Amino acid sequence: MKRFLRVALPCAAALLIAAFFLFRGRAAPDEGAQTAAAPLRVAVVSDIHYTGEADYRYTGSFAAANDASGSGKQVELLPQLLDAFAAQLLREKPDVLLITGDNAFNGARVSHEALIRKLAPLREAGILVLTLPGNHDINTRALIFPDGEAQNAISVTPEEFAALYADFGYDGALSRDADSLSYVYDTGAGTRIFMLDTNFRYGAVYGRVREETLGWLSRELKACRDAGGRALVAGHHNMLVHNPLFAFNYTVDDGEALRQLLEANGVTLFLSGHLHPQSIVSEGGVSDIATECFAVYPHRYGLIELEGDIWRYTACETDVESWAAENGLQDERLTLYRQYGYDFLYEATARQLREQLAGLEDESAREELCGLLAQANVNYFIGEPSPAPEEAMQQLLTKTDLGFFAGYLSTITDLPSSLFAEGRFGTGEP
Ligand SMILES: [Fe+2]
Repeated sequence: MKRFLRVALPCAAALLIAAFFLFRGRAAPDEGAQTAAAPLRVAVVSDIHYTGEADYRYTGSFAAANDASGSGKQVELLPQLLDAFAAQLLREKPDVLLITGDNAFNGARVSHEALIRKLAPLREAGILVLTLPGNHDINTRALIFPDGEAQNAISVTPEEFAALYADFGYDGALSRDADSLSYVYDTGAGTRIFMLDTNFRYGAVYGRVREETLGWLSRELKACRDAGGRALVAGHHNMLVHNPLFAFNYTVDDGEALRQLLEANGVTLFLSGHLHPQSIVSEGGVSDIATECFAVYPHRYGLIELEGDIWRYTACETDVESWAAENGLQDERLTLYRQYGYDFLYEATARQLREQLAGLEDESAREELCGLLAQANVNYFIGEPSPAPEEAMQQLLTKTDLGFFAGYLSTITDLPSSLFAEGRFGTGEP
């Protein structure tokens, strides 16, 4: 990210911290199942963490807590960022948009309702929008911050989630799992999309697919194969470990059982979020693509295009600046968003690093270290590789108390670029 290297602000970085019924009824049987590999374009967005426009004001303890968290969530401008995203999608016109959970900032019903209103133009334009719950969506201790200070709010139950998002997959599902909020949707283009509820207990971070749900998934994947269809599977938590530091509470507890089930059924792609950085890892012929948290710069979404027997995945940035120009906006945070958004994320990490490195007496060494760590972290977060530090810096690193960053740095440098933002994957044998 050389274009954004800032000499004047050497100490910058961001502690990424990547960041988690019964239903009955089966829709009509798949009489219309198609076998042809019809062209299909599927967009995927994750971890929007939407607040809404009216119930959260970015000031007071709310802003302070978000700034201190190091998460880099661009909460204040999220309504505008979503407008830019929606406008971009309306131009690109994918057939389907998947929203893989953590739709709400912290599970307040008003946030879900606001997001549904925000995305209405996509549905009205004929884009099939499907969603599933993340760990921040259901039965949470919901808070709103209308004046920047916390007030209790109402969250949603699992049943209410499905009712709120009835038009986002739950009403038109081909089949719904009786033990979770999982369902399968037939796109009518030879591909069925499996939306897997990976919450073992709503309101907790931890992810696990219930045994009963794995049984349901197994039956439905077989039905999909029998009908000659292709399958795409999505969930909120990760199926594979993307970073050993972020395994527990990130990867579903029974990820290997899930991976084996997908492999046995010729499924090559699992689409997740939850981690927050953009990342792709593969094992045994199945890849887990964690699409970056939308609330964090550069506000990415994935685009999956079916090309013959290949799924092509590309992580796309939301072009905020063009949207701001088209709409005649004057706010420089938006008209010059690439710099503003980058700085915001960079500073989110830098604040934490400055604190961690406060004991280092040599000021220039301190600033150099801070810049190096921040840059590596931001690169990791936004899906760009960073080289390992040079020898002199390595020596300084080993002599410095880096706390969490000590082990973290080694997991985010020298990563292959294939780990990040694009890839081509076989569709498996239908
Ligand atoms: Fe999550």
